[in-house]
Amino acid sequence: MLLRGKVYYVGVNDRHKDLFEGLWPLPFGVSYNSYLIADEKVALVDTVEVDFFPRYIQKLRDILGERPIDYLIVNHMEPDHSSSIALIRKYYPSVTIVGNKKTLSMVEGYYGEAGSTLTVAEGDVLPLGHHQLKFYLTPMVHWPETMMTFDETDHILFSGDAFGCFGALNGAVVDAKMDVQPFFPEMRRYYSNIVGKYGGPVQRALQKLAAVDIQMICSTHGPVWTEYIGEVVAEYDRMSLYQAKKGVVIAYASMYGNTEEMAEAVAEELAVKGITHIVMHDLSRTHYSYTLSDIFSYQGLIVGCPTYNGRLYPYMESLLREIAGREVKGRVMGYFGSYTWVSAIDKNLKDWAEKLKFELVGQPFENKQGVGADSLESCRALADAMADKLEAM
Ligand code: FEO
Repeated sequence: MLLRGKVYYVGVNDRHKDLFEGLWPLPFGVSYNSYLIADEKVALVDTVEVDFFPRYIQKLRDILGERPIDYLIVNHMEPDHSSSIALIRKYYPSVTIVGNKKTLSMVEGYYGEAGSTLTVAEGDVLPLGHHQLKFYLTPMVHWPETMMTFDETDHILFSGDAFGCFGALNGAVVDAKMDVQPFFPEMRRYYSNIVGKYGGPVQRALQKLAAVDIQMICSTHGPVWTEYIGEVVAEYDRMSLYQAKKGVVIAYASMYGNTEEMAEAVAEELAVKGITHIVMHDLSRTHYSYTLSDIFSYQGLIVGCPTYNGRLYPYMESLLREIAGREVKGRVMGYFGSYTWVSAIDKNLKDWAEKLKFELVGQPFENKQGVGADSLESCRALADAMADKLEAM
């Protein structure tokens, strides 16, 4: 599909995979985006997951016929983009693989002898004829070798994973020709789960690109951005700074409904206090990728769970580990729990909040056995404290 001038979209959609990286549900699929610049020299930018190689090679041949590919530019080595490298070398034996030092060592590590290679460094320019490609090293957005390639001729940024999102493309590729709204929640989920730990490197990349006149962003996943570049860059900026808006995520787990009853009471009181953005996640029923995504969006976090085998409920332990793993900053937090004979709530959640430097609001409380009027009153007091704190922020 022609994007602009001599630049084509040659990506594919994966509507089969259930879990991206074996971890992240894909209810709407995912696209593996690859791009072809058919200039005097032909450059391919990233590849696609190898399962889709038959469709991919057909797309390349439909455009190129018998022309060879001169350069394969590897912006990112994660196998969803690199696993066709060996087959591209087989079909196009004269191709030169272009990457930085770290990329090329990973090419050998994953796929054996890299063959003809060109090592590029920050600011290097590769002329293709009409097009000039400039390279920006952007380590840890999302792996150490990640870089971005800027087409100075048509002002196109080939950004790797940055600005990408889950969701297969349904016919159209460019944002201006589709309804993009379903992609934004999937961008937040993609960012928070996959790139979320690397807020600092994302900020450094954004600063590096701030003065570049970008008219089109070609990411490795999701739509090609043109009309929505401002929104997409602002969303990445916000998320990488861990900035959030007024609202509360209530993340809870419940074995027999007692903790859930308390979570409901917290939510109702938050609403009474005028908080309009309240998201409830039952951790036993919602994959944590959705909860994390909302935690990246809202300032307030209230967690509640039962004690289980003398520890926090397992799904709560998992969620807390994943939040800490992404080094989320600047949230205000309240917590509660329930137990039958011994409680693990207060010590564990207090220590965890301290480690993450989350500000605790309200009075944490632990409910023993059945939910009584006192516990429901404690829920309302916790919600009041959270609402007051958010109002004051
Ligand atoms: Fe889409 Fe980090 O790979």
